[in-house]
Amino acid sequence: MTTAAPLIGLIDLAVATGHHVVDLGDLAVATGVDPAKYHVGIGQDQMSVLAPDEDIVTMAASAAAPIIERHGAERIRTVLFATESGIDQSKAAGVYVHQLLGLPSGCRVVELKQACYGATAGLQAALGMVARNPQEQVLLIAADNARYDVDSPAEATQGAGAVAMLIGTDPALLAIEPVTGVHTADVDDFWRPNDRSTAVVDGRLSVTAYVDSLLGAWDDYRAHGGLDADEIDRFCLHQPFTRMAAKAFKQLTQHTGVSRDDTAIASTFAYNRRVGNSYTASLYLALAAVLDTEADVAGRRIGFFSYGSGSVGEFFTGVVQPGYRAALRPGAVMAQLDARVPLDVPAYRKIHAGAVLPSETDAKNPHVTTAPYRFAGIVGRARRYEHTSS
Ligand code: CAA
Repeated sequence: MTTAAPLIGLIDLAVATGHHVVDLGDLAVATGVDPAKYHVGIGQDQMSVLAPDEDIVTMAASAAAPIIERHGAERIRTVLFATESGIDQSKAAGVYVHQLLGLPSGCRVVELKQACYGATAGLQAALGMVARNPQEQVLLIAADNARYDVDSPAEATQGAGAVAMLIGTDPALLAIEPVTGVHTADVDDFWRPNDRSTAVVDGRLSVTAYVDSLLGAWDDYRAHGGLDADEIDRFCLHQPFTRMAAKAFKQLTQHTGVSRDDTAIASTFAYNRRVGNSYTASLYLALAAVLDTEADVAGRRIGFFSYGSGSVGEFFTGVVQPGYRAALRPGAVMAQLDARVPLDVPAYRKIHAGAVLPSETDAKNPHVTTAPYRFAGIVGRARRYEHTSS
């Protein structure tokens, strides 16, 4: 007699973003652009901006802390930190998070990178680890600070955010299904070389590369036993800006021949419209929006498309679990978004210009953030972080 494999997936999920917000209407006025281009043409309303004493580590720790508070850390043997805005070419950003959260030393910590796809690579790795050792849980954190040059077409598609997820058996939120479709193509659509803190992007190429990757990953998903499109209730597609996902979804429906109305994707946009691009976190922020803002999606199957420029894409599915609403934190994300401190365009650009501290000398950051963790500065040739609410 064979026993059914245990369900594995998301036990918990929590979100953090930056201290500041810039209204894209203000950016449009300041740069002589019709605001409708941002609100309608790219489907964005605001973008989160980090205070000088915030970075991917502080967002990641803030996102993960409520998960540790609720579930403890006894079963966490692995921390996977996915980012494409890394702060060190060597040490994993997750090691700082491990210390800030007081996680046990019997734990492995590693950083993953493949543009915005990194968190999905982490999810697949976590599923494998848990399948091999079902007693263990993996803390998976996606955190990014999306920065482009000012006055570039990409300026309005910046943002910052982190999503922390606890992966294990008995997933209270979402069980991830085994079939997956993958697609890799060497494309020069996006580049952040080591001498730059902002990304260089070929916007037009990136849009076509995204759609090619979606259709390629979908075909691979189907070739490996994936479901028909009409068996999938919601589609969470990577959201560098929400209109990108909407346009790509239209292409997918044409490709599959299954026409769908807006209810299949509309709820996925609620948070990303206000956070902006959070790169590898953005797909999971879209999931958070579905779970938080829809009345009841228990039993519904969600299709996910993860895209990382360069490029790697993956299509997979998950089923929302019965009783999932009891595992949510109602209103928590909206409260964070509403609490952000607005910046006018000159003030945001001043922060943008000073975002990188030199490594050769000590530098202390001003106290700005009200988040539980802050990046104090570089002292004695090391990054220093503080738990502010202790
Ligand atoms: N009212 C309504 N709509 C308007 C408008 C107005 N007044 N003015 C323009 N628009 C519409 C345009 O018609 C266009 O819509 P369509 O695509 O349907 O034609 C849309 O607004 C955008 O206008 P443009 O194409 O002229 O915009 P742009 O060239 O100035 O910038 C962009 C767009 C190239 C995507 C730029 O934002 C960019 O480079 N962004 C960063 C790259 C990116 O996010 N790429 C996405 C795929 S890559 C990826 O997914 C990985 C990742 O996270 C980066």
